[in-house]
Amino acid sequence: MIDEAATDFEAVHAARPSGVWAAPGRVNLIGEHTDYNDGFVLPIALPHATRVSARRRTDGRLRLYSAQGDGTTTDVALEGLAPGAVASWASYPAGVFWALAEAGHPVGGADLFVDSDVPTGAGLSSSAALECATAAAVNDLYELGLSAPELALIAQRAENAFVGVPCGVMDQMASACCTDGTALFLDTRTLEQRHVPLDLTAAGLRLLVIDTRVKHDLGDGAYAALRAGCERAAGLLELPALRDLPAADLAPALDRLPGELRPLVRHVVTENGRVLETIDHLGRGDLAALGPVLTAGHASLRDDFRVSCPETDLAVEAAVAAGALGARMTGGGFGGSVIALVEAGHPAVVSEAVRSAFRSAGFTAPVTFTAVPSAGARRVG
Ligand code: GLA
Repeated sequence: MIDEAATDFEAVHAARPSGVWAAPGRVNLIGEHTDYNDGFVLPIALPHATRVSARRRTDGRLRLYSAQGDGTTTDVALEGLAPGAVASWASYPAGVFWALAEAGHPVGGADLFVDSDVPTGAGLSSSAALECATAAAVNDLYELGLSAPELALIAQRAENAFVGVPCGVMDQMASACCTDGTALFLDTRTLEQRHVPLDLTAAGLRLLVIDTRVKHDLGDGAYAALRAGCERAAGLLELPALRDLPAADLAPALDRLPGELRPLVRHVVTENGRVLETIDHLGRGDLAALGPVLTAGHASLRDDFRVSCPETDLAVEAAVAAGALGARMTGGGFGGSVIALVEAGHPAVVSEAVRSAFRSAGFTAPVTFTAVPSAGARRVG
């Protein structure tokens, strides 16, 4: 696979790459729309990853090519690079170079060949995978010595300020920092992280990922509006962030807010509680207990935060009806993917039940796969 990446690189850039780096997509187990509220998240990295083969250039240019692109190479000068200057997929890697340079790191030009098996638009963080694989490559190529969390922050800055998506830090931290066999328990305020062992196989369980094929797009304004709503609510409550509202104070706090902000606040506060509850269950080794927490999280995203859609709701409903211990949409919402916790013998049964429900509803057939917690960004060749 690594030789193949080097050969692909050579076909486009007429030289051997100095190395190959990979960074994964992610699913979030629980803790949705909490990251930009300074709250808790618990993602795992997927086995699916984006690979970047790269080498330095001495002329200050970036030459970017994607195996999933349109067959053309994007060629831009680093000097004078500014948000808005690069379109489509290439804005993600270009944004990483821009963010590094802007933060004062001595980066020069590079040739990149990108290849990915992370589904795009499926809520599985293909963007973060591309950013973090690029960041890991540049970190080594230019010997920047940045840590994984530092690279994640650079990647988030690229997405916020260069690509223009106001995302939180969860996806980039998951892609940069996750380790094999563990979920990443992250406090998004302090960036304190704990790798929590998650041995689904030993517990006789599987994590089924259901890509509903409804393309989600965080850039479409809905995500930004929700984020702004949460920040407005925190301001009205005179709190630095919704993270600072204890569950015990939720009811009186809601009374102080306009009606449209109440469900947002309720979701964030109860969702932070669900992350902590999940950590508790994991600590006791009771993985099956996660099921109802996931399903409760979905109800909150559907009824309070309102980021689910008919396809994600149906996938959750059909999975649970077919015997899943619990299920919920994962990621930003408005489409994307659902995760279901199922017993080891049941992924096929649950997948088929969801497929059949989608057929009856006239929805596009979903894509399903099982996932194990995998490794974060790393050099692979
Ligand atoms: C997207 C964003 C993340 C996070 C999730 C919702 O994936 O990129 O920062 O806000 O939505 O939890």
